Amino acid sequence: MDLILACLTDKIKAEFLRFSFYQKGSIPMPLVTTTEMFKKAYAGHYAVGAFNINNMEIVQAVTEAAGELNSPIILQASAGARKYAKPAYLKHLVEAALEEYPNIPMALHLDHGADFETCKDCIDGGFTSVMIDGSQYSFDENVELAKRVADYAHERGVVVEAELGKLAGIEDDVKVAAHEASYTRPEEVEEFVSRTGVDSLAIAIGTSHGAYKFKPEQCTKNEDGVYVPPTLRFDILEEVSRRLPDFPIVLHGASSVLPEYVKIINANGGKLDEAIGIPEDQLRHAASLAVCKINIDSDLRLALTAGVRQHLAQYPAHFDPRQYLTDGRTFVKDAVKHKIQNVLGSENKA
Ligand code: G3H
Ligand code: 13P
Ligand code: ZN
Repeated sequence: MDLILACLTDKIKAEFLRFSFYQKGSIPMPLVTTTEMFKKAYAGHYAVGAFNINNMEIVQAVTEAAGELNSPIILQASAGARKYAKPAYLKHLVEAALEEYPNIPMALHLDHGADFETCKDCIDGGFTSVMIDGSQYSFDENVELAKRVADYAHERGVVVEAELGKLAGIEDDVKVAAHEASYTRPEEVEEFVSRTGVDSLAIAIGTSHGAYKFKPEQCTKNEDGVYVPPTLRFDILEEVSRRLPDFPIVLHGASSVLPEYVKIINANGGKLDEAIGIPEDQLRHAASLAVCKINIDSDLRLALTAGVRQHLAQYPAHFDPRQYLTDGRTFVKDAVKHKIQNVLGSENKA
């Protein structure tokens, strides 16, 4: 060991020592970027789940599921999450999860960063990945903004996701009506990536945010009476990946709005009418292609709500949050395990 250390520069020496401490488990492994995760996911034809975190129970549920299934994971926080939970709480919750699961690669990602300042704040605050969402701007404005964020992030070892095309749906304060949504234009992607230097690209191929992704009249019904929405535009995905070989693609708005949770919610006092999501087989197919990151938020919200509603309906006298949130957390954990095993394909890829 002494001989090895004598041959190293101070900087490498410090890294070497840090690494041997991690190995011994005396300090937790740090958050990682998505670079290695995406390389492995691309080559292995699977995707890494990016789960939105808003409170302790969700962080615990997602990371416990990843820990039990030995899966890499991306924990992502939106502006709304940062406003609700406060950045310091989110950061320390994620650090606690790293301590609990030191062998699980975890990235902390800003979801839908609206401007340079929000991205900078997260980069300076320990996030390992940020999304700059300039999708509502013109191509050139989107390029300019994404490049500014990428330059700042890369100098600090942080990676950047940007978006081309526009998804329909609701994210926090931004509501994009279906008629304003637009598919990604494959002919723009090479110029966008080379001018900005971003590390991954979210594209619009028919997914959208929230629990109401399609209207019933847009869908057919299968033999079980479940709505089947129009197929995603895999032709766009394939053309994008032909133009950007080995480049990681991201799918937002990828919840499936699992009917079992909607059923439990509605059977226990809820009222979710005709909520329709993305069929899981289509997500699995996307994961086998160039899609390396699949964003899931609505399904976690539905699972948590289903668990809490069912608990409170079964035990109307309960008023200890630890009782009903335990069920909410278990439902979220089961949903994440289901995604890892049946949709993402990331089990045992940590
Ligand atoms: O893409 C949007 C995510 O579901 C985050 O939603 O902005 O309400 O936290 P939020
Ligand atoms: P869903 O609303 O489909 O879960 O999408 C989440 C998302 O894209 C977060 O960025
Ligand atoms: Zn999104």
